[in-house]
Amino acid sequence: MSQTSRKIVLGVTGSIAACKSVELARLLAGAGHDLRVIQTDAARRFVGEAALGAVSGHPVAGRLFDNTSEPVFAHIELARADLLLVAPATANTIAKMAAGMADNLLLATYLAAECPVVVCPAMNHHMWHHPAVKQNVKLLMQRGVTIIPPDAGELACGETGDGRLPEPEAIFCRIQQLLGEEIVGDLAGLRVLVTAGGTREPIDAVRFISNKSSGKMGFAIAEAACMRGAAVTLIAANCSLPRRAGIRYVDVSTAAELRAALEADVDACDVLIMAAAVSDYMVSGKQTMGKLERKSKINLQLVETGDIVSSLERNNTSGLKVGFAAEYGGDKLERARRKLRRKQLDMIVFNDISRSDIGFESDDNEITILTGDGKDVHVGKTSKAECAHRILDLVAAKGRGQG
Ligand SMILES: Cc1cc2nc3c(=O)[nH]c(=O)nc-3n(C[C@H](O)[C@H](O)[C@H](O)COP(=O)(O)O)c2cc1C
Repeated sequence: MSQTSRKIVLGVTGSIAACKSVELARLLAGAGHDLRVIQTDAARRFVGEAALGAVSGHPVAGRLFDNTSEPVFAHIELARADLLLVAPATANTIAKMAAGMADNLLLATYLAAECPVVVCPAMNHHMWHHPAVKQNVKLLMQRGVTIIPPDAGELACGETGDGRLPEPEAIFCRIQQLLGEEIVGDLAGLRVLVTAGGTREPIDAVRFISNKSSGKMGFAIAEAACMRGAAVTLIAANCSLPRRAGIRYVDVSTAAELRAALEADVDACDVLIMAAAVSDYMVSGKQTMGKLERKSKINLQLVETGDIVSSLERNNTSGLKVGFAAEYGGDKLERARRKLRRKQLDMIVFNDISRSDIGFESDDNEITILTGDGKDVHVGKTSKAECAHRILDLVAAKGRGQG
């Protein structure tokens, strides 16, 4: 529940993502805000006025010249809001906002508004990267509009790229933060420690042994946990992904550094989620600081880096532990199940690395969450953000003793 009720105007425009605006409106109204919704004519083709009206608790405003159901100066009254949020925002509406046009109620309200304005673009990735759209977005930002950029993933048109409207929960959390509201999510009060990325074991000063992990899954989990109110630390092994305020990042490179970072933080966490791909082997002996000379043959002796999870058991036994199993081959699910038992984890997230369309480096994943009680949860191919929320649903349920 929000501490202060604010007047928020939600502008919904004609994107396929308009269906998500019902959930966004529900979250905003549910937090106690006085929510008014404006729909463009195109938005009415994607989402029903009845649904938006019902969740916001007020009739949906639509037309500039409709003085039978709306005040004559509806745009001026609506503009006296504490915040104007346009989600989803089409390329068309963004262009008209940048050009200062006012040929519908939402655009007239925007021009008349003195409050903070937040715009959440949603469109096909080619549209999003079009120079005209980029320039319009830049212009709006220069004028003080906050842009919540789209997520990457599978788009409604079947293509993959950035252009997806972020999940309503994510937009809601950003809005609450902008309004200075405390976020009370289902993970509030929990300290969540996440590992992400792939470790690098040096061969010499420039070469290393590593793996294909990009860190996207771990970053998605950290972001989702932060949105849901947790205090999050993310140990990032060689990740070059965007970072967000509110998360504490600890950068590491090797398995040994990751272990040291975990040991420093594990006692102070309630939930440990290990999404990093840690090298199983490192080069034995002392590495040359320079670059190994080129020879026809070089023998490298590899030794095990050691099982970090098992060694941590000695430190922290009380917190919830979630592991990842990236498996390949025939009995992959069974191998993940054995890993869950052997490492005494509370949950293990299995993903099939024999598929190239999900997992490593991809924006999507398809996972099975094994909880050891036979109630496996399968999450079909979807964005890593959605997978992260499904994992955290189980973490939250276990935290409440329902898991
Ligand atoms: C099926 C369908 C999906 C569409 N999805 C989007 C979209 O996601 N983003 C976008 O910018 N335009 C999208 N459009 C185009 C807009 O609906 C169109 O530009 C419209 O004029 C926008 O009007 P508005 O900005 O006043 O709502 C879509 C059109 C169709 C037919």
